[in-house]
Amino acid sequence: MRSVIRVCFVCLGNICRSPIAEGIFRRLVAEAELGSAFEVDSAGTAGYHAGEAPDVRARAAGQRAGFVVAGQARQFLVGDLARFDYVIAMDASNQAELTRLAGSVEGASKVRLLRSFDPEASPRAPIPDPYYGGDQDFDEVVTLCDAACRQLLGRIRTEHGL
Ligand code: 4NP
Repeated sequence: MRSVIRVCFVCLGNICRSPIAEGIFRRLVAEAELGSAFEVDSAGTAGYHAGEAPDVRARAAGQRAGFVVAGQARQFLVGDLARFDYVIAMDASNQAELTRLAGSVEGASKVRLLRSFDPEASPRAPIPDPYYGGDQDFDEVVTLCDAACRQLLGRIRTEHGL
């Protein structure tokens, strides 16, 4: 039996962008009837919102787009770098922090920027932080995450023959 593929989305606080990406990816995996092949999670490089539910604006944006934004914020741990097969950062700052945690660029080989999978985006393009924004900014996060997550799932399916 093939082993489960573990994917973790990472932002700063784990209450806005990464729970949105997680919810979108979960929906895509479910639509593809691949739920049993994946473990999907999210985390923040910072721990100051640990234990909190996703931001109410993130949950509302998910509701508007027809997917569930749920879970409880947690800080990304060094051990997560070994545990997950794909560690997907939302912006260059998250990616730099993950590389620092890994101790080397080689150690961070599983770390990728989400939008680097989107052929429409430049390779270093971020999912912009919506925390100080409004509903429109959260809807934009959903649009950008959805486009990139579709490509990410396609890439993983190709890599694993799914
Ligand atoms: P996230 O957004 O990293 O997408 O969850 C943020 C959440 C909290 C803060 C900043 C960004 N904060 O400064 O508390």
